[in-house]
Amino acid sequence: MRVLGILVLLCSPVTGKPAQVAQIREQTLKFIRELDNKWIVAHAMLGVAVPLKNSNVTTGETIKLHCEIGGTPNPILHWTHNGEIIQGDMMINFEEKLSNRGKESTETGITASTLTIPCAQFSDAGKYSCVGFNGHTTIESNAMILVDGNTVGCKPEAETAPIITQWTETRAENIGNTVTLVCRSDKPATWTWTFDEQPIRQGGRYQIMEAGDLIIHNLEFADLGAYYCTATNENGKATAETFLHITRSHS
Ligand SMILES: *[C@@H]1O[C@H](CO)[C@@H](O)[C@H](O)[C@H]1NC(C)=O
Repeated sequence: MRVLGILVLLCSPVTGKPAQVAQIREQTLKFIRELDNKWIVAHAMLGVAVPLKNSNVTTGETIKLHCEIGGTPNPILHWTHNGEIIQGDMMINFEEKLSNRGKESTETGITASTLTIPCAQFSDAGKYSCVGFNGHTTIESNAMILVDGNTVGCKPEAETAPIITQWTETRAENIGNTVTLVCRSDKPATWTWTFDEQPIRQGGRYQIMEAGDLIIHNLEFADLGAYYCTATNENGKATAETFLHITRSHS
């Protein structure tokens, strides 16, 4: 019951204030330490693979930020603007961790994320952080964005195609284990995945989650390769690529 309670808590989107976030983080840490094996705990680390860059934009332009953070366990990313969380969540791959419980796992990879702000206003200026969290440690990459120019009116946000906000860039996991390939979008979408140019069918070893993630059970060596996730709505679609390496256990 305790596991379920924490799962519900952690799966809710993070929109709260820093105090609430700190509380969620603390509970996550406790739970993860119980779930992750000794190898993971001993090797827990995070590093910035692609940092944010400072930029100057003109009012009315689209701000597009990109960052990549990697490590063990592979992190989930969220964004802050002047300290307030504006995108992303802290949903760690619990389904995977629970499936791999008692087995050796690698849980190593790089997660990529983009933040898109259409029609920049003066209020969008400031400090942006791309924050990686893996249940053991947190790391962030920061950038200052200046907004300059005359005040402009913004067109009402038209119905737009989905934008992929976060995905697994690369991932390594052991033969026989379960892996989660993350893919999430800024708005609800219909998700499809392909591997080896073939559509992946829901069922059997494959589970496509409502939020976009693909879970693969009982990894085989033949699962190694590039996967593509596509988010589609009535206005268009967006695709991201992820690469899965198959490893063996450390013993
Ligand atoms: C942005 O503008 C400021 C002030 O004009 C300047 O000092 C800075 O170098 C600019 N940054 C970039 C990334 O162009």
